Amino acid sequence: MTKHVTLTQFIIEQQRELPGVSGAFTSLLNDVVTACKKISHLVNQGNLIGVLGSADSENVQGEVQKKLDIITNDIMVDALNWTGHLAGMASEEIDDIILIPPQYPKGKYLALFDPLDGSSNIDVNLAVGTIFSILRCREGVDPALEDFLQKGAEQVCAGFVLYGPSTMMVLTTGQGVNGFTLDQDIGEFILTHPNMTIPNDTSEFAINMSNQRFWEPPVKRYIDECLQGKDGLREKDFNMRWVASMVAEVYRILTRGGVFMYPYDLRDPSRAGKLRIMYEANPMAFIIEQAGGACSTGRERILDIKPKALHQRVPVILGSKNEVERIVGYHQEG
Ligand code: AHG
Ligand code: MN
Ligand code: MN
Repeated sequence: MTKHVTLTQFIIEQQRELPGVSGAFTSLLNDVVTACKKISHLVNQGNLIGVLGSADSENVQGEVQKKLDIITNDIMVDALNWTGHLAGMASEEIDDIILIPPQYPKGKYLALFDPLDGSSNIDVNLAVGTIFSILRCREGVDPALEDFLQKGAEQVCAGFVLYGPSTMMVLTTGQGVNGFTLDQDIGEFILTHPNMTIPNDTSEFAINMSNQRFWEPPVKRYIDECLQGKDGLREKDFNMRWVASMVAEVYRILTRGGVFMYPYDLRDPSRAGKLRIMYEANPMAFIIEQAGGACSTGRERILDIKPKALHQRVPVILGSKNEVERIVGYHQEG
């Protein structure tokens, strides 16, 4: 019989190698896993339990919330606030930082999450996901906003769960990237994709082409050259994908390479891109770099940015290293 390694076993064994590890992090990760299993179940049930559709409310970013945006946010908060492992949380769906209720003990970590990524896909039955980032915090305090505004390079752990044909968790603690598939029969994530790595070269790009007229010249140039295919400077044909769900795009890139972009665009000059740094760009950048890829705004490495606000947006260019470096080069040339 094949011996399966569960996510819990994998994390315990990985943590054992590290000096001074208390087990708190392993427990925290288990709490995140429990929340994501619940979300996986809800997403799978869909309209059988009436969770699809709009919630008639807006989040702090002025986006119309789906019912599932709110339900999944509550699942994450309720699964994590009582356990004693966290000092605080932050969510795409909540304006301010979330403190631990006074009746519960406080821990030494902060959890930041996008409870439902790609939520415009939920009503059309396409892939969605949950993204999370774990940071360290000063112990025994109620954290302030400043405690959250750490560079992505400081992350202890980052991961996402993709609710697709299979439910998959992809995880890094800074020792490479591993993928786990949820075995629905036994309710455990099983290691199915050890040591995920991204090829340096690719001929596949992902960008929302409907924004083309708002892009800056370096991005226009890169995509123009891809579109010219064999007849142009790149001397090869490119393929294009756009799922409108970053979790699905990043998973595809981890599987077969590619480049994903939500670049700066001129639609609203006060808005630096669409994706949020703390719970979308940073965790994905950590994962992508750990898998041998690269992640940049076009002008700087995402993980080096010191965030100024909880819901700050950032341009994102990530994926196969040589392509990302080419695009960064185009930005340098101006
Ligand atoms: P969210 O559903 O959490 O708001 O994030 C959606 C994001 C991201 O997952 C995706 O790549 C992008 O928005 C899609 O944007 P467009 O609809 O502009 O293509
Ligand atoms: Mn998102
Ligand atoms: Mn979301």
